[in-house]
Amino acid sequence: MKKLIGPFTQILPLSGLPLKGALTDDQLHIISQGGVLVDDGLIVAVEDFGKLRSANPSVQVEEITGNRVLLPGFVDCHTHICFAGSRAKDYAMRTAGKTYLEIATAGGGIWDSVTQTRAADEATLIDFLTKRINRHLAEGVTTIEIKSGYGLNTNAELKQLKAIKAASDKTHASLIATCLAAHMLPKDFDDTHQQYLNHVLQNLLPVVKQQQLANRVDIFIEESAFNSSDALYYLSRAKQLGFDVTVHADQFTTGGSEVAIKARAVSADHLEASTDYEINMLAKSDTVAVTLPGASLGLGMPYAPARKLLDAGACVAIASDWNPGSAPMGDLLMQAAVMGAAEKLCTAEILAGLTFRAASALKLNDRGVLAKGKLADMQTYPCDDYREILYQQGKLKPDKIWTNVD
Ligand code: NIG
Ligand code: FE
Repeated sequence: MKKLIGPFTQILPLSGLPLKGALTDDQLHIISQGGVLVDDGLIVAVEDFGKLRSANPSVQVEEITGNRVLLPGFVDCHTHICFAGSRAKDYAMRTAGKTYLEIATAGGGIWDSVTQTRAADEATLIDFLTKRINRHLAEGVTTIEIKSGYGLNTNAELKQLKAIKAASDKTHASLIATCLAAHMLPKDFDDTHQQYLNHVLQNLLPVVKQQQLANRVDIFIEESAFNSSDALYYLSRAKQLGFDVTVHADQFTTGGSEVAIKARAVSADHLEASTDYEINMLAKSDTVAVTLPGASLGLGMPYAPARKLLDAGACVAIASDWNPGSAPMGDLLMQAAVMGAAEKLCTAEILAGLTFRAASALKLNDRGVLAKGKLADMQTYPCDDYREILYQQGKLKPDKIWTNVD
C-alpha cells in the first residue's frame, strides 16, 4: 500500500554520487521539508513534501513532527557478531601492553572465541546474535553482513551459518552471511594450512552452497593465518563453486589486497598496513576498499589510509568489524565519525562509505540511497542540520528506523 512519510526538515538521498573516489560536501543534494512516497517497501518518489501531498491527495500519510533529518539506513558490510563469550581478558591485557603472542599464550585470541562458540548450542547462539543485530538496527544499521569463522570445523561453521539464517526471521534488518572458515588454521586440525583449505573446499563449502547458507567466502591473509599463494588457490576454487569472495587484507602486513584484486574479490577489508603500492592497485580495481575503524580503536593501531585511498580513486566503505576480539564496541556511526576526523574525510565521503559504497561491497545495488525503486530502508535523526550527526560523534542516535515499509 502506498504511504507518504514526512515532512522531514532535511532529506539526504545520497543518490547520484560516484561509486569511487573523493567527494566534496557541496555534491550533497539536500531536500528541505521533503517527503518520501513508498509502496510495498520500495521508494516511489523523494521530493518536496507539499508537492507529493498534493499529487497524492488520497494516500495515507505518516506525519513527522519536529525537526528530523532523514538518511538511508546504514549498511555494515563486515561484522563477526555470531559468537559466544567474551574476550574482555584479552582487551585488558592489550591495554596493559601485552603482545599478541603473550595474549595467545594466556589462552586468548581468535581460538578462545572458537572454543566458546563451539561450546554454545545453536539456540543460545541465535539469542546472542539476535540481540546484537537488533542493537545494530536500533542504531540505524538496516543491512548487516555477518561472518562465520568461530566454528572452524564443518559442524560448528554450519551451526554459525544456520544461526545467521535463523536470526533473519527474528529481525527486520537484512542479513548477509559470509563463510569465514579460513579465519585461522584450527589448533585441532592435524595437518597443513593447504590441507585445511582443501578440507573446507571439499567438505564445507559444497554444503554451504547446497543449503543456501551463504553466497560469500572470506579468508584472513596474514602471517598468523593464511599466506597469499594458498589464499589465491582457495579463493579461485571458491569462485568455481559459485561464491563471491572477499579478503581480510593488509591488517598488519601487506599482501592480502594484491590477492584480493587478483581474485577479483568484491572487497579487500582492513588495509591498515596498505602502502602507496596497494592503494594505487585498489584504486584501479573494482574491489571495494573496506576500512574498519573499530579494529583500529580496539587494537590501539593506526587507521586504514582512507584519505589516500579516496584521493587515489578507490571505492571506500566503512564497516564496524564488530567482533569479540579486535573490535568489541560495534558502534558503526561513532567509529566512522572518529575515523573521519582523523583521516580528514568530508561528511559526503563518510555517509557514502556507510551506505551505497558499503552496499556495493556486498554487490547490493537496491539500497544505500533514497531514490525511486530502491528499498525504503531509512532512518531519522532528531536534529535540524545533517552535520549534527557526525558532529555528535555517534552520541546522537536515530529515533526512527524504517525497513520493509508496508
Ligand atoms: O577482522 N583479523 C581477523 N579477524 C578479526 C578479529 C577476530 C578476533 O580477534 O576474534 C578482525 O579483526
Ligand atoms: Fe574482520
